Amino acid sequence: MCGIVGYVGKHKAVSILIEGLNRLEYRGYDSAGVAIQQNGRIEVAKKAGRVANLAREAAKHHFTGTAGISHTRWATHGGVTDANAHPHLSSDDKIALVHNGVVENYDAIKRFLLAKGYTFKSETDTEVLTNLVAYHYTKETTVEGESRFLEAVRKTLYHVEGTYGIAVLCSDFPGEIVAARKGSPLILGVGQDENIIASDVSALVSRTQRVVYLKDGEIVHVTARDFSITTLDQADVSPVIDKVTWSIESAEMGAHAHFMEKEIFEQATALENAMRGRFSEDGSTANFGGLNLNAADFRAIDRFVFCSCGSAWHACLVAEHLIERFARVPVEVDYASEFRYRNSPLDPHSLFFVISQSGETIDTLAALREAKRKGYKVMAICNGVGSTIAREADGGIYQHAGPEIGVASTKAFTSQLLISAMFALYVARMRDMSFSDGVHYVNALKATPDLVRRTLEQAPRIREIAKRYAKYNDFLFLGRLSLFPIALEGALKLKEISYIHAEGYPAAEMKHGPIALISEECPSVFFVPKGEIFNKLVSSMQEIKARKGKIIAIVTEGCELPPGLADEIIPIPDCHEATLPVIATVPVQLLSYYIAVERGCDVDKPRNLAKSVTVE
Ligand code: M6R
Repeated sequence: MCGIVGYVGKHKAVSILIEGLNRLEYRGYDSAGVAIQQNGRIEVAKKAGRVANLAREAAKHHFTGTAGISHTRWATHGGVTDANAHPHLSSDDKIALVHNGVVENYDAIKRFLLAKGYTFKSETDTEVLTNLVAYHYTKETTVEGESRFLEAVRKTLYHVEGTYGIAVLCSDFPGEIVAARKGSPLILGVGQDENIIASDVSALVSRTQRVVYLKDGEIVHVTARDFSITTLDQADVSPVIDKVTWSIESAEMGAHAHFMEKEIFEQATALENAMRGRFSEDGSTANFGGLNLNAADFRAIDRFVFCSCGSAWHACLVAEHLIERFARVPVEVDYASEFRYRNSPLDPHSLFFVISQSGETIDTLAALREAKRKGYKVMAICNGVGSTIAREADGGIYQHAGPEIGVASTKAFTSQLLISAMFALYVARMRDMSFSDGVHYVNALKATPDLVRRTLEQAPRIREIAKRYAKYNDFLFLGRLSLFPIALEGALKLKEISYIHAEGYPAAEMKHGPIALISEECPSVFFVPKGEIFNKLVSSMQEIKARKGKIIAIVTEGCELPPGLADEIIPIPDCHEATLPVIATVPVQLLSYYIAVERGCDVDKPRNLAKSVTVE
């Protein structure tokens, strides 16, 4: 949510900042702006709308400065206007600031500043923060050896309640940026005679692969050739420089029309990456190096608690199904946003898991912290290498799915499903699952990427179906057992990128209410895998058909439906129960994608959304 880029070096800052914002636009796209230091002052260009609008506006300024900060916004306080766009300038024009997060006590601070004569042009909490830095900057310095600029930022942050990732310029300190974080991600890219601040690696990886992941409560003071990190309490921090392992090409669209399409088609590779090096030598179970728990620890666990948001929460529901089904260990799933305030009772033999693509979702992070406070050991299944969740968890499993740029999660989601299936196997093999069942399961996992490739071959057929169904404004997605969460995921995909109302339901539960929605105008997407409930699913489909509902059926190859029951059939390959959720997800991703394209929607940047939700 909100993207920040800051640059200080020997090149013109504006083009580097705008390139960075383009890569970060998926974090927020309500408005964008830059502030550049030049000629002893700070000049700002900002515009409501996309980064392209800002680029046109910035061109009029003929910026030449080599230090600047920039921002792409997802609105929290104040509407989507030029005035509310970041960066914000202080009343005295000395301080410019960009911010990701929410200042909860902004009203009290604003009243204090108004009384001191500061004026405000926007409705944002960020402008309050900017003027508070300006206020402290006018005060006497009290910290020996520290620049007045850095001291002003530090003093400001003492007074801030809420969350922030900020980058700040001061007109009296050319070539310097001060940045800090609490609850919102911020990364320093260490370059050759240049340094970059960004809220996401993708904004800086084209210039450097050497990064420092800042921690909450840290402030970094950056010049072109140097940087120093301290805590809010002025303790020096020895930086750890990590190397980013992916290249800029993996965050580019290539020949695809959208990142979402690219990422759907990357899924087989993402699954291979999730499995690489994670099977035992005897081929009967999975191995996870990063869990930091031994087999005895695992055997002592009598319950798992999974917490997440959005698609990752759907992955938790699949994990629940698979762990209970194969390992026979009880699993509880909670929304992270609920868990954090719910005060759920602690069970000392429980293991707490969070699942997060970004590793920065604020509710998931808060749930993790709450669980740790309560004494749980916390594991994370996470794609964001070096992310806050990955760092704060006691152990975890990296997804290695590569950067996911499309706001709608696709490859990260199926990779979470596969890792959940691997984890269910791991726990099951420590308990009752036999060696031969383990080998069979492992072989099924290894076959999944090829089955996904085969399912992707249905894309042309699904595109044709999408053309016929894009006109409808209501959909039901219906599935049972491990495919109920995939029904939820299908509905979420469709609503988030094409703004069509869609609901996911357990197929048999449909007759307890949602069946009232059924008409010729409300199609249902049915998951109909082979297995013991096949006939039950057929009965549910009959109930829909009897009410003139159209049906798109996702059916295991070789399974015969009664003639005329489904209006459209999308075949999926026969597969192991543990990998069925992965395979069944692919058609609903494609269906949602093609419907959104057919309706002319902005697939990668759907309205009101942002890729990682770093505010509450
Ligand atoms: O980065 P995370 O996995 O923690 O994100 C969780 C949700 O915000 C995310 O899955 C969201 O629901 C996606 N837009 C779904 O496509």
